[in-house]
Amino acid sequence: MNPLPPELSGWMQTGCARARAHPSLALIKYWGKANAERNIPATPSLAITLGGLSTHTTVRVFQPSGKMTEHSQPEGEQDYVFIRNVRQPVQRFEPFFSNLRRELAKERKECPFRFLVESVSDFPESAGLASSSSGFAALTAAACSALNWNISARRMSALARQGSASAARCFWGGFVQLDAGAAWAEPAAPENWWPELRVIAVMTSRSPKSMSSRAAMEHCRATSSYYPEWLRDSGLLMSKALEALQQRSLDTLGPLMRQSYSSMFATMLSANPPVLYWNPLSVEILRLCETLRSAGFSVWETMDAGPQVKIICEENSVPEVIRKLQSLPVQPEYRISSAGGPPRVESCE
Ligand code: PMV
Repeated sequence: MNPLPPELSGWMQTGCARARAHPSLALIKYWGKANAERNIPATPSLAITLGGLSTHTTVRVFQPSGKMTEHSQPEGEQDYVFIRNVRQPVQRFEPFFSNLRRELAKERKECPFRFLVESVSDFPESAGLASSSSGFAALTAAACSALNWNISARRMSALARQGSASAARCFWGGFVQLDAGAAWAEPAAPENWWPELRVIAVMTSRSPKSMSSRAAMEHCRATSSYYPEWLRDSGLLMSKALEALQQRSLDTLGPLMRQSYSSMFATMLSANPPVLYWNPLSVEILRLCETLRSAGFSVWETMDAGPQVKIICEENSVPEVIRKLQSLPVQPEYRISSAGGPPRVESCE
């Protein structure tokens, strides 16, 4: 645990919980906001919860000790978020905590709360592996439990959305959808729906991404002349993808996934200035998937706001994908996932 910030002296710890959440990988992408302040998505997304990757987050809740009144609260930053022991900029978390306080105040008249958060993922953060989804989901689940606030998965999904819209999708296992304009996500198919499906997350770089997804999607909305077409086509892509998921047909879902991520990147390349997340190894892996498809394997890739490539295939194609990855001149690290479950809450030790 990090030492208690001096600003919290005079505050008493009243709750603590730890939660683990898996990231949500979009097969059909959310890219753009219908309402920036409320962080409501402008496009529908369909995602798989990645069972092989996790974020663990501990939340400690503090309240003023007896003698402290609201007027004697120390000034300054209220909440403390550490990722791998590094204090995070307060602005990134402020919309999340303000909304949490607003929602909580509807039900509780208690004195103010402050939060001390410590989080770590078992994969690189802010590198395009959806750590903001698992991060805000684990934070929400742990905060609710530390506050002894028993709310539905839908309501937690809406709270997490304020931090990161993709986090709204992490509250169910398996396959989850977040509709355009929606405040919370909904389950699309359970964890055991497609047991053969695998996601191989290939790390082409460990560096943090050059531009946050939040900034990049806003930049695309403001400057890409292709953005309106992206919004227009997103609904049809989503409904076709939901059908393919119902049929568990990767040969149908794969091309829709490819269309979704390549159209999302089209908004980035047509932005002014363009946004480019890919590196030469990303392109090499896209080509590797193409080669495997030409050889008859149903192997499909997707990418997010970063250079990592996630390969989606069924279990029986995995050995061939690994063989191909191992034959590259620079062998990238990779992690294999099946569909994972919802967040799990544990008490603090
Ligand atoms: O939720 P954010 O702000 O991390 O944005 C996620 C954007 C993508 O990962 C590119 C797509 C998605 O639907 O997860």
